[in-house]
Amino acid sequence: MRRLIVALIIIAIIIAVAYWVLTADISALPQPGRLETRVAAHFRNWYISRGAGRLSIKPPVYSASEVSQGEGLFGMACASCHGKDGRHPTNIGKSMYPRVPDLGSREVQKLSNTELFWVVKNGVRLSGMPGFGNTLSNDNIWQLTFYVRSLGESPKSKPSSRIGYPPGRRPLLQKTPRFVLTVTDGRRPAALRPLP
Ligand code: HEC
Repeated sequence: MRRLIVALIIIAIIIAVAYWVLTADISALPQPGRLETRVAAHFRNWYISRGAGRLSIKPPVYSASEVSQGEGLFGMACASCHGKDGRHPTNIGKSMYPRVPDLGSREVQKLSNTELFWVVKNGVRLSGMPGFGNTLSNDNIWQLTFYVRSLGESPKSKPSSRIGYPPGRRPLLQKTPRFVLTVTDGRRPAALRPLP
C-alpha cells in the first residue's frame, strides 16, 4: 500500500513537471508575474548581498564631482536601457524580461553602496543587466555607483561641491526652519514667526 502511494506521488510530480514544461513560454512580452518577480528578487538580493559581503574594497569619498563623472559614464554605458536619467527606462529596457527598474526606486535604493558597486561590476546573470568589470575600472564603477545613489536623493541633499560627506549619509541640517523674533512692546518677545 505504501509503495502504491509513493508511486502515485511520483507520477503526480512527473505530470506536474511535464505540464509546466509544456505550457511554459519563453516570450518576453507578458508582464512578469508578481510571485515570479518576488521570488526572483529574493534570490537576486541574496546573491548580491553575499557577493558584496565578500568584497574588500574601500569606496572613494562621495562627492559632487564623482557623481557628475558617473553621470557622464552613465550616458554612454547605461542610458540605452535605463534611460538618460536612470529613472525612465527606454523602450528596450521596458521590453526586457525582467523589466529594467527605475534606479531611483526604493527597491534599488535600498541596496548599499557596496551592493550597487557589485551589481554594476558583475551584472545579473539571466536578466540582461551586463557586468562592466571587464570594461570599466573600479574608479569608474564607483562613480557610476554614486550617480545611481544620487538618483534616490532629493536635489537639496545632493552633495555640494565643497563638502564631501560619507556615502549614504545626508547632511544633518537639511531643513532648518528660519524664524524671526518680533518684539512688540519693547520688553517681551511676542512671537516667533517663520520667515515668509
Ligand atoms: C542591456 C541593458 C542594460 C544596460 C546597458 C545596463 N543595464 Fe542595469 N539593468 C538591466 C536590467 C534588465 C536590470 C534588471 C535586473 C534584475 O531585475 O535582476 C538592471 C538592473 C540594474 C540595477 C539594479 C539591480 C537590482 O538588483 O535591482 C542597477 C543598479 C543597474 N542596473 C545599474 C546599471 C548601470 C550603472 C549601467 C551602466 C554602467 C547599467 N545598469 C547598464 C539592464 C541593463
